[in-house]
Amino acid sequence: PKEGKVTQYEIVEWAINLMQQALHSGSAGELARTYFKGRNLSQDTIRKFRLGFHPEDWSWLLDKAKGRYSEKQLVSVGLAGERDNGRGFYDNLVGRIVFPIIDERGRPVAFGGRVLPGGNIESPAKYWNSPESSIFLKRRTLYAFDQAREKIRTDKAAVIVEGYMDCIACHQAGVTNAVATLGTALTEDHVKFLKRFDCRVVLVYDGDNAGIAAAERSIERFLAQDLDLRVLTLSDGQDPADYLDKHGTEEFQALIDGAPEAWEYKLQTLTGRHDIGSVSGQQQVLNEMLDFLAAAPGLAGGIREDLVIRHV
Ligand code: GTP
Ligand code: MN
Ligand code: MN
Ligand code: MN
Ligand code: MN
Repeated sequence: PKEGKVTQYEIVEWAINLMQQALHSGSAGELARTYFKGRNLSQDTIRKFRLGFHPEDWSWLLDKAKGRYSEKQLVSVGLAGERDNGRGFYDNLVGRIVFPIIDERGRPVAFGGRVLPGGNIESPAKYWNSPESSIFLKRRTLYAFDQAREKIRTDKAAVIVEGYMDCIACHQAGVTNAVATLGTALTEDHVKFLKRFDCRVVLVYDGDNAGIAAAERSIERFLAQDLDLRVLTLSDGQDPADYLDKHGTEEFQALIDGAPEAWEYKLQTLTGRHDIGSVSGQQQVLNEMLDFLAAAPGLAGGIREDLVIRHV
């Protein structure tokens, strides 16, 4: 076999094709096909995102790789793991529905895999993501960026969601400037990359505790930067896929277009957390807001004026 990076992309591509076949043909993929149907994904969407399925066989890819790629090569792209004490290898994505991760230049680099409800493989982790490799850095990668690039350019806006399913649901609904982070919060690398497109960044996070916490972290990290950051967490624990199923594209797009600026989102969370009917509650909100703004000296002046006009 050939050595080096080319082979890593090749191996990922080879595995994507096999897992697409396993999803689309045969009885092994039946449950996965039914699952995607239940999540309202069209055939078109499933093809576009090259979704797949890994059958419930701990050496399915290892067996297919024989004579073509070594076990170590499968390990190098996260498709297989090695047992302790040299007791052999096992496939990583067993029994999962699979989301290939494509880099910003359109090259396949990694995988996300979700437990398939009703399947026989139990796992404490709902999602499994490829470990980092020489072709895959999580803090740099935005899922579906290659498909979102055009709309990000023309709209001068990028919509950032948390999950693969959320991102795919956005694209299917026509919100094709959506990308997802891969189980990490928004990073400096993501922001640096997005700044090249001179776009507004709209975080649309899940309305659960994890999403709300991630939104707050992102705000604190990027408020001081020269970045037009808007932030939205959905109500009632919904995520973008849930919201789109329930309310449709128009309402979702309206939410995005009306998403508050980061500082205003912060103010909203503070007023929700304290009793602003009381003077001490008002003082708490004001103190915490001033502390927060002190971390963003470049912005504080302009925002304070705005604050006074709109909220006092
Ligand atoms: P669905 O249940 O399929 O709708 O997924 P979701 O995307 O709504 O899941 P959730 O809101 O729980 O998580 C958001 C994202 O965080 C996922 O898309 C994953 O990238 C990541 N994530 C969630 N659970 C796990 C996990 O158990 N392990 C890892 N490594 N990542 C996870
Ligand atoms: Mn969530
Ligand atoms: Mn979800
Ligand atoms: Mn979610
Ligand atoms: Mn509605």
